[in-house]
Amino acid sequence: MRTTVGIIGGGPSGLLLARLLHRAGVDCVVLESRQRAYVERRQRAGILEQSTVDALREAGAAERLDAEGLVHDGIELRWGGGRSHRIDFPSLASGRRVWVYAQTEVVKDLIALRLADGAPLHFGAEVTSVEGVDTDRPVVTYVQEGRTRTLTCDYVVGCDGFHGVTRAAVPGAARTTYERTYPYSWLGILADVPPSCDELVYAHSSRGFALHSMRSPDVSRLYLQVPNGTDPASWSGEQIWDELDFRLARDGRQLERGPITAKSVLPMRSSVTEPMRFGRLFLAGDAAHIVPPTGAKGLNLAAADVVVLARALIRQRTAGSTDLLDAYSDTCLRRVWRAEHFSWFMTTTLHTDPEQSGFDTRLQISQLERIASSPHAAAELASNYAGLPIP
Ligand code: APR
Ligand code: PHB
Repeated sequence: MRTTVGIIGGGPSGLLLARLLHRAGVDCVVLESRQRAYVERRQRAGILEQSTVDALREAGAAERLDAEGLVHDGIELRWGGGRSHRIDFPSLASGRRVWVYAQTEVVKDLIALRLADGAPLHFGAEVTSVEGVDTDRPVVTYVQEGRTRTLTCDYVVGCDGFHGVTRAAVPGAARTTYERTYPYSWLGILADVPPSCDELVYAHSSRGFALHSMRSPDVSRLYLQVPNGTDPASWSGEQIWDELDFRLARDGRQLERGPITAKSVLPMRSSVTEPMRFGRLFLAGDAAHIVPPTGAKGLNLAAADVVVLARALIRQRTAGSTDLLDAYSDTCLRRVWRAEHFSWFMTTTLHTDPEQSGFDTRLQISQLERIASSPHAAAELASNYAGLPIP
């Protein structure tokens, strides 16, 4: 098999890239190791920033998002057992806003469109190697239904996530990975109960971080900071609700409780691999960088990468110029590092490091008070949260 662009991974990066290329008449093949049902059920993040929504609209993939997504114009910060402050996006982030619409819904929409177009998207196709990325005919080898096959490409794009294989196709001497792990994880639940708040609430408390998010008017998504290595089964439903009540407390009001339908623990890590390109291999999304979820940036960074890359590949095909492809890594990394900093800032300002001293806690509270009292500090948070424009 041959194609112009071989896309490895059918998560949001691979699927959005495929959609953008297909609309511009550039042919591509998507190889996804998992089955469709698995990819569509995976629980991931749920906040789309303005530029991600713009990109999905431009790709003709926002019909359901526009009908069902919840537009949010702010978030609330809580701390110190009773202090709270709302961050207003329209006034602080130049009119940019965010949408609550689950990543898994974005993935369902993009899969349905690609299949309706009759464009190649192979499930159960596990890529085992990428060779010749420093030649002009790289070859992807994959296994599907027990048979080994190859795909010869002009360009290969690694959209295979943090645990994928493409990053390793760049020789070790040609790449550097910068990483940080955090001494805590998130216990996340989905619950069949209307959210107890209109907007997301990020809470700093003496017992650690908590987040109240949502998926729809009837489904809540909530998170608690827990120690690394926590077994989700070690928390009963009642313990989870009690702890959420303590950490999210305001005016003695309790959260609406409901049946918990999913429960899992997520580790927190920051990682960036540079450069994001080697020869004819380009890395995009989680394959190149991950962030801790506190800033809700993972999916949005992935979308920005593929918008930049699609533009560059289309230009190469239509005008014969590789200037945008040559600039791809630098263009993306500038924005990636800004989001890495923001995600680290949100994480370290709101969580309690088990080793932290009273001094460290007072610095966190001082930072939160500064955001509450200074429009400049609030605007810095708002513009990063609602997302910077894609260059
Ligand atoms: N061959 C084919 N597909 C693979 C392989 C492989 N060897 N390895 C991994 N994949 C697939 C995975 O099954 C997954 O569907 O690549 C896809 C990668 O998707 P994501 O992990 O969702 O990564 P990405 O598309 O970059 O999206 C980033 O996902 O993890 C979240 O928080 C993150 O929201 C962010 C978003
Ligand atoms: C989510 O709804 O899953 C979510 C929202 C905001 C975050 C992280 C996760 O910062």
